[in-house]
Amino acid sequence: MQTANLSRAPAPERAPARLFHILDPRVLTRAQLDELCDLTTRVRILAKSRIGARILQTLLPHKRAMLYFVQPSTRTFMSFNNACHILGIRTSEIRDPSTSSEVKGESFDDSIRTFSSYVDVIIMRASGAGLAAQAAAAVDASRRPIPIINAGSGQDQHPTQALLDIYTLERSFEHRGGIEGKTIGFMGDLRRGRTVRSLAYLMTNYPGVRLVFIAPAAFQISDDIKSHLRANGVEFSETDSLHEVLPGLDAIYLTRLQTEWDVGEESASFDHRRYSFGPSELGRLKPEGVVLHPLPRGPELDPSVDADPRAVYWRQERNGMWMRVALLVKIFGVEDELPER
Ligand code: NCD
Repeated sequence: MQTANLSRAPAPERAPARLFHILDPRVLTRAQLDELCDLTTRVRILAKSRIGARILQTLLPHKRAMLYFVQPSTRTFMSFNNACHILGIRTSEIRDPSTSSEVKGESFDDSIRTFSSYVDVIIMRASGAGLAAQAAAAVDASRRPIPIINAGSGQDQHPTQALLDIYTLERSFEHRGGIEGKTIGFMGDLRRGRTVRSLAYLMTNYPGVRLVFIAPAAFQISDDIKSHLRANGVEFSETDSLHEVLPGLDAIYLTRLQTEWDVGEESASFDHRRYSFGPSELGRLKPEGVVLHPLPRGPELDPSVDADPRAVYWRQERNGMWMRVALLVKIFGVEDELPER
């Protein structure tokens, strides 16, 4: 199977009426984001009671999902797996490509078509930037066009992570007017990390946001993201100094150094002392500011920060499961079967 690093995805067409493939966050509208956030809260609350959990279980027992995760994953895999089970969806998985027929030389498209013979949705993480889109094209051309969910495509996109990040930010700013108008800092390996790329795309849906990209020049956010932000009128700035911008931030989104993409010694030049967050940075964050991280963390985030109420990354991780439940509910169109709040 082909897992080469394909070039980054071209801009998709905007806003299909209903959710089907989830490949690139740019197609999502504000109305869809708001609806997904609302659904996430509803399923999260519903699942707390035995009767509510049982209602969720009855929504999709006739569906099966394939978790095709051939790149390392803990949170995304577990949260999707559990999200499926919460809805009664049965799952099968391939996590190690050496156990599938790709070692016999089966093409990527044929493998995807094979998965689609047995399941109703494919949730996939792979190392090539365009592979989720290629999988969608393969199933669209077949007689069983099932939805493909991109659970992380190379260095390019991670749309469902961006959705749970949006939900976490909306929850954090619930009593302060939501995400609109907030100043959000992104720090770390912004060039090679897909989470910030996807979240930056979704930020175009929130008027008045200001984004601050904090990284050494060699790890700064890429030009394609900056062009997209400019084209959509989102205010942003770049800096190599956390110190200067920290007191003005409403949220800081930390990311780890993506060493797995090194071709030489690139990561060796990254100075963790300048781009890390610990007790002294916490002391300079606004009293109502929040700290996010997609996790896993590296030395950029001191575990002592965890105890501060402004650290929301463990909640963010858990929100991922509820947002993925909501997404599956929407994709399969069973939202009207949920009881009102
Ligand atoms: C992220 C990813 O895989 O891109 N992890 C995740 O899905 N929560 C972030 C990372 O690995 O740095």
